[in-house]
Amino acid sequence: MKASEIRSKYLKFFESRGHAVIPAAPIIPPDDPTTLFTSSGMQQMVPYLKGEPHSMGKRIVDSQPSFRSEDIEEVGDNRHTCMFEMLGNWSLGDYFKKEQLPWVWEFLTKELGLSPDKLYVTLFEGNDFVEKDLEAYKIWQSLGVKDDHIFYYPGKKNWWSRAGTPDQMPVGEIGGPTSEVFFEFTDVVHDSKYGDKCHPNCDCGRFMEIGNSVFMAYVKTEKGLEPLPAQNVDFGGGLERLVAAVNNDPDVFKIDMFSSLIAAIEKSSGKKYEGVYMSPMRVVADHLRAAAFMIAQGTEPSNKLQGYILRRLLRRAAVRVRLLGADAKLIFKECIPAIVKEYSDAGFIDASSLDHVQAVVIAELDKFGKALDKGLKEIERTDINKIDAQFAFNLYQSLGFPYEITRDLLAEKNITLDQAEFDKIFAIHKEGSRTASAGMFKGGLADQGEITTKYHTATHLLHQALYDVLGSEISQAGSNITSERLRFDYTYSGKPTAEQIKEIGSIINTKIKADLPVVKTIEDKKMALESGVKAFFADKYPDKVSVYRIGDYSRELCGGPHVERTGVIGAIEIYKDESLGSGKRRIYARLK
Ligand code: ALA
Repeated sequence: MKASEIRSKYLKFFESRGHAVIPAAPIIPPDDPTTLFTSSGMQQMVPYLKGEPHSMGKRIVDSQPSFRSEDIEEVGDNRHTCMFEMLGNWSLGDYFKKEQLPWVWEFLTKELGLSPDKLYVTLFEGNDFVEKDLEAYKIWQSLGVKDDHIFYYPGKKNWWSRAGTPDQMPVGEIGGPTSEVFFEFTDVVHDSKYGDKCHPNCDCGRFMEIGNSVFMAYVKTEKGLEPLPAQNVDFGGGLERLVAAVNNDPDVFKIDMFSSLIAAIEKSSGKKYEGVYMSPMRVVADHLRAAAFMIAQGTEPSNKLQGYILRRLLRRAAVRVRLLGADAKLIFKECIPAIVKEYSDAGFIDASSLDHVQAVVIAELDKFGKALDKGLKEIERTDINKIDAQFAFNLYQSLGFPYEITRDLLAEKNITLDQAEFDKIFAIHKEGSRTASAGMFKGGLADQGEITTKYHTATHLLHQALYDVLGSEISQAGSNITSERLRFDYTYSGKPTAEQIKEIGSIINTKIKADLPVVKTIEDKKMALESGVKAFFADKYPDKVSVYRIGDYSRELCGGPHVERTGVIGAIEIYKDESLGSGKRRIYARLK
């Protein structure tokens, strides 16, 4: 079965059970500036899982391209990809376990035809706050799942939030116990290196997780976990893995979505694909697919935040091509049309982005190519005993040769670099911080706490103030918030004067002082846009949208969260406004 067939079967299955199909969010969330990437389908659902009404109702379904930067280094085995498509369905305070689990079962066994014998389910074993999930156990049993196919695990495996277990959740984060479904590849022989007994969460590769129903019913507060206003369901199933299960082949790189890429790499390198651990072809196919997707949605390689991750993907892929003894430009040029076609057919990107994607990738390769040649030569001619953190730093400083690439290449030679030592040298040389908000790199997630919420509302005020002072030419080009500051990218061909920046700051502070109410309404998207509501990625919103109004001053399409009244923000100061080139600027502000 093809990935596209499974995607449409899933959407139809839930649509016929009363779910509204919504568009996927962009890979860089437009209105959740607290995160780097959309890393799961639930990300655009957070405000609704917390209790705000969704414009499309209480039952939602979609397919969401998701990116997990923390998985970059896992890529190369048979099942990890740093970008994947997540099939998702949600109950927003509507149905719960007794509907969700039978639907998941029906979809897997009837629609996809997976044999019940090969399906295993897991459940939360309970903790001090949330009890063992006997309710879900009984439901699985009633569906015919045998006891030896049901496993209990602790929070590390069967609790889900974007940050992990309850103790890792920042204030404001939501989560809950889960029930996962695993597919058993009976041809894979258990490797005792991973433990005496194989079980669904064993890493030997015999089992693969193909679906996760989160019973999203808790929020972390200053006091600990508290129940959300309503019980929700948040389901995610990796499309690529579902295809692999249907094919009964544990190698996700053999599914149709990857086969044209692998074929292009085989053709241009003259080598055959071998499904071996850390196969360079897998890394190239995965990284290039993610990179091309991001570029098609407007991200550019840079030294910061998402742009840095994109750069890392392309550079890591280029190094792997070298290991294949092939030409990166040739391979990338062959692969990119297939990637753009796959995702434009699915409606996630525009087919017309092809030339742009090719141009950005080639420009990046040109930048990196020389450094790569020199760096590789240097590594080859250096005595293996002299290759250490200082050596890696020197390569980085002189050639811009990324540390992790030196580390990866040397790991292949059985050399382990001392990361702490490298970091120390790096800090001493005050190279600034590429990973400016390092915390965000863990899961692409900062908190949704009080301060970031204040910054989010202040960002809306800033957007409107920029418009008022600089004119209608400005429009949002990006946004990023941490608990230290807000950052907003906008298009503007000129350079704002110091007076204009001052005026923008003072407008924002006046609006904050006026203690304006922040009110959310659900509106028809077309009408909202026609009436002048501001929107970033307007085409990515569903037909009914939520609009946040700040007094009479600002109106924006947004998913929240926001403060209730502007007064709580206190006061802000703009401390930097810089050019990003090509008619784009970046402005920073922080709380005073
Ligand atoms: N949000 C859940 C996950 O990502 C479904 O696994």
